[in-house]
Amino acid sequence: MANYENIFKKVVAHCKEYGYIFQSSEIYDGLAATYDYGPNGVELKNNIKNYWWKSMVNMHENIVGLDSAIFMHPTTWKASGHTDAFNDPLIDNKDSKKRYRADILIEDYIAKIEVKIEKDCLKASKRFGDAFNKQKFITTNSRVLDRQKQIDIINSKMNAFLSKGNLKDVKKLIEELDIKCPISGTNNWTDVRQFNLMFKTQIGAASDNSSDLYLRPETAQGIFVNFLNVQKTTRMKIPFGIAQIGKAFRNEIIARQFIFRMREFEQMEMQFFIRPGEEIKWYKYWKDFRMKWHTSLGMGEDNYRFHDHETLAHYANAATDIEFKFPFGFKELEGIHSRTDFDLKAHQECSGKKLQYFDPELEENYVPYVLETSIGLDRMFLAILSSSFTEEKLENGENRVVLNIPPILSPIKAAILPLTKKDNLPEKAREIMKSLQIDFNCQYEEKDSIGKRYRRQDAIGTPYCITVDHQTLKDNTITLRDRTSMKQERISIEKLHSIIAEKVNISRYLG
Ligand code: GAP
Repeated sequence: MANYENIFKKVVAHCKEYGYIFQSSEIYDGLAATYDYGPNGVELKNNIKNYWWKSMVNMHENIVGLDSAIFMHPTTWKASGHTDAFNDPLIDNKDSKKRYRADILIEDYIAKIEVKIEKDCLKASKRFGDAFNKQKFITTNSRVLDRQKQIDIINSKMNAFLSKGNLKDVKKLIEELDIKCPISGTNNWTDVRQFNLMFKTQIGAASDNSSDLYLRPETAQGIFVNFLNVQKTTRMKIPFGIAQIGKAFRNEIIARQFIFRMREFEQMEMQFFIRPGEEIKWYKYWKDFRMKWHTSLGMGEDNYRFHDHETLAHYANAATDIEFKFPFGFKELEGIHSRTDFDLKAHQECSGKKLQYFDPELEENYVPYVLETSIGLDRMFLAILSSSFTEEKLENGENRVVLNIPPILSPIKAAILPLTKKDNLPEKAREIMKSLQIDFNCQYEEKDSIGKRYRRQDAIGTPYCITVDHQTLKDNTITLRDRTSMKQERISIEKLHSIIAEKVNISRYLG
C-alpha cells in the first residue's frame, strides 16, 4: 500500500476513534458518502465556520449574512441552469458493472503521470543532494518535460471535449489512453452519458410535476433570489457581499475519499455584488484574500496552489480553484468564480421581477455582476485533520499520535487534569475549569494515569493540558503542558486565562 494511502486510512480510523466523524447510519452498514460529525467533529466544524464568518462577515463592513431555506421554488433551478446543465459525465465498465465519472478516470490517469514526475524529482534530489534545484529540474529535464507535455495534451483534449458536450470523444480518449477499470482490469466501457446531480423530492401529497422540488446543490441561489431583500433592508451600496453557510446536496456518481466528496455536505459561500466591468479587479482581490485566509492558519504555504480553470461553468467568465495537498494529492478546496450577471439576469427573466440596483454615483440602474467565493466546509475539515495528523517517535521510545490543529480551531482548548482523584485535587481542578469554561471549551478528566490522559488530549488536538497537583493547593500554581512541544511550565493560576487567550486569540491569526 502506498504511504499516502496508509496515512489516509489512519486519519479515517482516527476520526472515528476520537469522536470526530462517524459513518452515517453505521448500525445499518452505513449510507455511502454521508457522514455524521461526533462531539469533537462538531466543535471543529463550528470553529471553522466561526473563523470564516469572522473574517468574511464581521470584519467586512460591506458583507452581511443570510440563512436561506434549503427548499427553493423549482423555477430557481431552471433559471440557474442546474436543471439543464448540472451534469457529470458518467461511464460504466461492462464487466465489473462499476460506474465512474469519465473526467475523473482521466484525471486519475493524469495524477499517475504527476506521481512519476515527483519520483523523477526525488531520484534527482538524492543524486544531486544540496545542489538540487527542483524548479530548474522540472523546467529542463527532458523526461519530465515529456511527461508534462503529455499531461497538457490530455488536459486540453478533455477540457475541449467536455466544454462542447462531445461525449463520444471523451470515451475515445479513455480508450486511447487505455484506461482500465480498477476492479475488472478491462477497458470494456459503455458510452459516456450525462447524469444530473440534483436530488429530486416532492412537496405535499400531490404527485403532479408542478410539485417537484430539488434539494439545493449550492447555497448561492438562496443569496441571488434574496439580493434585493438584503440590499434594501441593509441599505448596502455596491460593492457589497452576502455570505451564507449551509447544507448542499449532490447525487455524486462516485463517492470516494471519505468526506472529500459527499452527497450531503456544507458550503460557506459569499456572493460579492459589483459594478459590471469591475470583475477582474475583484476576482484578483478575492483570490488574494482567500489565499491569505488559508495560509493564516499556519498549515504550510506549500500545501496550497491555484488552479485556474480552462473549462468554465455555464455561469462563469473566470474561475480558479484553491487546491490543497490532501493525502491523495492536490485537490480542490475552494472555488473563486466570476459569475457575471448570469444568475441575477436569469432570475429576473424567469420571475418577471426586476433585480437591479440603482447606483447613486453613476445615476443608473444595472444588474450587478457577481464575484463568488465558495468553500466546502467538510473539505476544509479534511484538510485540517489530514495535515495536522502526526505520528511521532519520542525519545523514550514510545509512539505518540498528535493532531497539531491550529489552536484557534481545536475542539477543546484546555484539559484540566487533577493528578489524583483525592485530597481535594478534583475540587480545585473543577474550580479552575469553572473560571475558564465560559471563554474556552474545556474538558475535565480524572480517569487513568496522567501520561495516558496527555496522550488522549494529544490525539484530540488539545493545545493545553493543565495539571493540578498537591503543590497547587499550597501555592496556587499548576503545570501547563504544551501539546506540540510537550514542554511543561509551572505557572500561577491567575495567569492561565491570559496565556490561553493569547494562543487562541483570533486577531493573532486574522489581525
Ligand atoms: N456555488 C458554486 C459552487 O457550488 P463548486 O465548485 O461546485 O461551486 C464549491 O463547489 C465547493 O464546495 C468546492 O470547492 C468544494 O469544496 C465543495 N464541494 C463541492 N462538491 C462537494 C461534495 N460532493 N462533497 C464535499 N464538498 C463539495
